[in-house]
Amino acid sequence: MGQPTDQFNRPLRDLRVSVTDRCNFRCPYCMPADVFGPGHPFLHEPQLMKAGEFATIVAAFRSLGVEKVRLTGGEPLLRPDLPELIRILKQDLRIADVAVTTNGWLLEKLAPALRAAGLDRLNVSVDAIDDAIAGRMNGLGFKVGRVLRGIDAAAALGLRVKINCVVQRGVNDAGLLDLCAYFREHGHPLRFIEFMDVGNTNHWTQERVVPARELIARIGAQWPLEPIGPAYRGEVATRYRYRDGGGEIGLIGSVTEPFCRDCHRARLSADGQLFTCLFASLGWDVLGAVRAGVAGAALEAFLQRIWQGRLDRYSDERAELLAAGASRAKIEMSYIGG
Ligand code: GTP
Ligand code: 5AD
Ligand code: SF4
Ligand code: SF4
Repeated sequence: MGQPTDQFNRPLRDLRVSVTDRCNFRCPYCMPADVFGPGHPFLHEPQLMKAGEFATIVAAFRSLGVEKVRLTGGEPLLRPDLPELIRILKQDLRIADVAVTTNGWLLEKLAPALRAAGLDRLNVSVDAIDDAIAGRMNGLGFKVGRVLRGIDAAAALGLRVKINCVVQRGVNDAGLLDLCAYFREHGHPLRFIEFMDVGNTNHWTQERVVPARELIARIGAQWPLEPIGPAYRGEVATRYRYRDGGGEIGLIGSVTEPFCRDCHRARLSADGQLFTCLFASLGWDVLGAVRAGVAGAALEAFLQRIWQGRLDRYSDERAELLAAGASRAKIEMSYIGG
């Protein structure tokens, strides 16, 4: 099957799969506790992709050019068969780059099983090094020490680790230099993510966004920085290194410096719906097609047609849409995958 490009000539390279919509944290910027309480309609067993269905779908994506698969959620480490999903990706499907995005709470315990299954690397969320701020950012008052021990355990096993920090003005931005100091010492790239208007429930406002440029100025005033090029085309983070050799940081400026032009990411929810943008309202029922018997070349052709029709560039259009007062129902990030 040929490798498709979309309506803006963007290839399909990267598949992000949400393996569960549940999470053991309640970060207000993602899953506010009042909305994601006990009554929330989380997905249930029959709706979830089974390991075999996951394998069938990812195999079709691989035939279309996908070389990198990221497992996300919700919190992917809550899924009991996560090591089996990783084994399928590495051993059966020979995916070159397999990564997991996690909040790290269960990492100390599970890192050995993930490593043994063949995982290449991890992105772990750490929004603050101070327990009081971290507790507000995760919504449940959980202390950060356990996450940091999980990161150490993963790194000791040889897993490459990057750190993700969502920045909200007035919530955690006062603690960012402490975070930099910690990860300069521990040697993991730290990436700051602009607070985004994903979903419909996180009370996003432009005032809460700290622009990537401002962060560079603030961090650079403490430790001078210099830009370094992207590690690969379409990398979402803009990278800088500390001039004193203290490692690197990244800025993910999806609000003030959108990167839709090179976006080569497809997203699959835990119930097997395909979304061609993080800000999409509607998905394609790929799992339904697989359960109806679509497989092999027919499945590839289905996915290929979807990608070829793709027109998404929400972050490029955000300013115009907001100025026009347009609002649309968006999919929650915990469902579509972070
Ligand atoms: P690697 O460079 O392979 O580590 O991948 P990554 O940086 O894309 O992975 P990660 O899951 O850590 O992404 C970090 C954050 O960047 C996500 O949680 C999102 O907040 C944001 N992000 C990732 N991809 C997109 C995208 O396609 N669009 C937008 N708007 N934001 C994205
Ligand atoms: N803005 C930016 N990133 C977010 N994430 C979740 N919600 C948001 C948001 N509103 C991302 C974070 C976290 C990952 C699981 O999802 O990067 O690390
Ligand atoms: Fe859970 Fe990550 Fe969302 Fe926080 S950002 S609620 S850890 S999925
Ligand atoms: Fe890709 Fe949509 Fe994000 Fe733009 S907003 S980078 S098209 S996922």
